Amino acid sequence: MTNLNLDAFVADLERLRSEAETALADAIDIEGLEAARVVFLGAKNGRLKAVQKGLGKLGRDDKPVGGQQFNAVKKSVEALFLQASQRVASQSKNSKGVEQVDVTLPGSPIRFGRVHPITQTIRRVSSIMANLGFEAVDGPEVEDQWHNFEALAIPNEHPARDPLDNFYIAVANADRPLLLRSQTSTVQIRVMEERKPPLRIVSLGRVYRPDTADATHYPMFHQVEGLLIEPGTTMAHLKSVLRSFASSFLGGDVRVRFRPSFFPFTEPSVEVDMEWNGRWIEMGGAGMVDPSVLQSVGYDPDEVCGFAFGLGVERIAARRFGVADIRDFYRNDIRFLEQFHDRGQA
Ligand code: PHE
Repeated sequence: MTNLNLDAFVADLERLRSEAETALADAIDIEGLEAARVVFLGAKNGRLKAVQKGLGKLGRDDKPVGGQQFNAVKKSVEALFLQASQRVASQSKNSKGVEQVDVTLPGSPIRFGRVHPITQTIRRVSSIMANLGFEAVDGPEVEDQWHNFEALAIPNEHPARDPLDNFYIAVANADRPLLLRSQTSTVQIRVMEERKPPLRIVSLGRVYRPDTADATHYPMFHQVEGLLIEPGTTMAHLKSVLRSFASSFLGGDVRVRFRPSFFPFTEPSVEVDMEWNGRWIEMGGAGMVDPSVLQSVGYDPDEVCGFAFGLGVERIAARRFGVADIRDFYRNDIRFLEQFHDRGQA
């Protein structure tokens, strides 16, 4: 076996190093880099591997020097490879940054949120009522028994005050529990206590009753309360306000029907139905404000009179949007909620 000359071995190594240097410097992407790595550093057929085989053919005395030279070149090729990889990686990052701004692409659409259908309904009802001269007012959701019951002529023994029908809240150091209001009629009292007639107010908000949730009930729901106190008010005014409201809200000439009913705080009292697509739907209650209620807020029933009504917002919204189960309003399923968009309102 012919011995390999040390000078030739070192010259081979040097050529390999400089070719590797050029190849790695030329690599502009991951693919080019990988190709150069396979050619020079490849574990099976790489050029370094081939030269390493030559080590064995060196003369005994030349082997230590040859080995040192081989290791030095191997290290330097590995270092060159590492350098080149870092360069390619940072270049591809930069060039990506440039590519991201392609001004010829259509813009990506911004996702608009939607107002919840119940809030849409509330806003629309208030704006229609504002056109009829009713000012929107708010009242507290945590109420005392005077405003939720007594001032509305609902005495202590009335079944509406049953603990099973109300969310009472025991309060430390208070002689009587508060409650989550069970109706927005509380706001009638609060406004009348503070202001002198004439009044035209509407109040929309949450009310609470411990009902089992089903397609038409929920322990929390919303009411629209209307109150008008003006000399000479009659049931005819009540009906025409409700009809104007229904026609604006539902569109077209909506018929409104009264059925005799009873509420402690109105006399006479009626249930209000509205006709929708040939069907009569019960929307809530109404009536002439009871003289005892006027008295309880310090008004003189011989001088003032007026009407009040309370409608269910969920019922109105369900009608308008064609929703069969009011629980869907509160499931927070975005696919359900985003279907509803009442155009022509804020
Ligand atoms: N507050 C009554 C209810 O919740 C509705 C109503 C309001 C009736 C105003 C008459 C007048 O059922």
